[in-house]
Amino acid sequence: MKRLKLKSMLAAIAIAFCLIAIASYAQANKTLTLATSPDYPPYEFKDTAVSGNEIIGFDIDIAKYITKELGYELKVVGMDFNGLIPALQAGRADFVMAGMTPTAERKKNVDFSDLYYEAQNTIVANKGSNLTKAEDLAGKKVGVQLGSIQQEAVKKMPGVQLAALNRIPDIIQEIKSNRIAAGVIEDTVATGYAAANPDLEFNTIPNTEESGSAIAFPKGSRLVPEFNRVLQQMKASGQIKELATKWFSRPIPQEPAQANQPAVASKFGLDFGKILPSLPYILSGIWVTLTFTLLSAFLGFIWGIVLSLFKISSIKPLFWFATAYTSIFRGTPLILQLTLVYFATPQLTGYNISALQAGVITFFLNSGAYISETIRAGIQAVDKGQKEAAESLGVPYKLMMGDIILPQALKNILPALVNESIALLKDSALVSVIGVEDLLRRGTIVGAEKYIYFEPLIFVGVIYYLMVLSLTWGANVLERRLQTSS
Ligand code: ARG
Repeated sequence: MKRLKLKSMLAAIAIAFCLIAIASYAQANKTLTLATSPDYPPYEFKDTAVSGNEIIGFDIDIAKYITKELGYELKVVGMDFNGLIPALQAGRADFVMAGMTPTAERKKNVDFSDLYYEAQNTIVANKGSNLTKAEDLAGKKVGVQLGSIQQEAVKKMPGVQLAALNRIPDIIQEIKSNRIAAGVIEDTVATGYAAANPDLEFNTIPNTEESGSAIAFPKGSRLVPEFNRVLQQMKASGQIKELATKWFSRPIPQEPAQANQPAVASKFGLDFGKILPSLPYILSGIWVTLTFTLLSAFLGFIWGIVLSLFKISSIKPLFWFATAYTSIFRGTPLILQLTLVYFATPQLTGYNISALQAGVITFFLNSGAYISETIRAGIQAVDKGQKEAAESLGVPYKLMMGDIILPQALKNILPALVNESIALLKDSALVSVIGVEDLLRRGTIVGAEKYIYFEPLIFVGVIYYLMVLSLTWGANVLERRLQTSS
């Protein structure tokens, strides 16, 4: 009976995955996916207080115009800048708009449209640091965005120490805390950050040979000529200029004037008021994190039971499989497994797996490996005599396991399982690297748009802690119940 239930449950899950796959395939034909790195106001960013989850900006408006003109639906996905070209290569996206400059190196891997916008590099530094020209940076530590042309530009400057960071807000924060002397950032973007951080200044430096923004496509994409045609049209009709004016002269959130406060206050004080308008956005991340954790914990648990039965099985290949499996999943970093599943699945199977699906799959596969060990130990700890008694009474193996051994084993390992779920809940924050908008990612997104850093992170930290506390509390109650019921 129990086995039947398990079987039908597994079947239901498999069917659900197939349905999702079919549905997304059917939709994929009319929809173009734009991948971008929404840390780059005014090109692409979020305004969570106003437009919630949606990525907006200059690039997005252009993308919307072009896809509409060509009769496609548009889907926008966000990820780190250095993941964009891999995303095109893996077939995760149809095009990339991220203020991306067509460089010789990138052209080897992707195709580009014509340029749609020109920009210049600037040196961003603390006021009064007198770093205005490239030569001034010699001997200094300078921040750039990982994988950007700024990284290449700074590499070529003699004697400069390079610090490649994931996101623009990270660079700004490092400058403010004096860990790096300056950052090299594009003018339109630097303007925004300097306006919001009065202790910063920026100076334009002459362009290197490569500059400007273009749209990137997978190699050989048929979309390039179509997109170029509409881009031409937009340039001729003044559309691009109009959008540039709309976005590049948009009011930038200013730091409140702090004329009569000591300078330290503006640098080190925390202001939680700034995240208030985005509270609903951050809080709905709880739901994402919870769904994610519950799904992975549930599937991981079932998978863990299966693996643990393999491990105590007398059928050798099953034993070998489960042992090798656990060894591999425990022996490699979770974040590596996560990025592999996310980026390799579309390339290997043609199925465009969503970040959430990739996350759940990796986490349940990984957690199954750990749980299987715990369950195996639990099963082996149940008194041998019980097994022998059941066997001598002629109770079949499946019944004995399902009705006698497993329930007792589970009771004993409950604390270990709770530990595993707590670990899952916290580790779930890793999925923010592939762009799932869980609690942590929402915190960093709000930080980026408000040009602040700590407040949203501290806030989501408190929420994680409360979630773990309630989980522990629930488990304690459950454990006491089980104890009294025995
Ligand atoms: N234009 C630079 C480049 O192509 C930086 C672009 C960064 N874009 C972003 N969305 N963060 O490398």
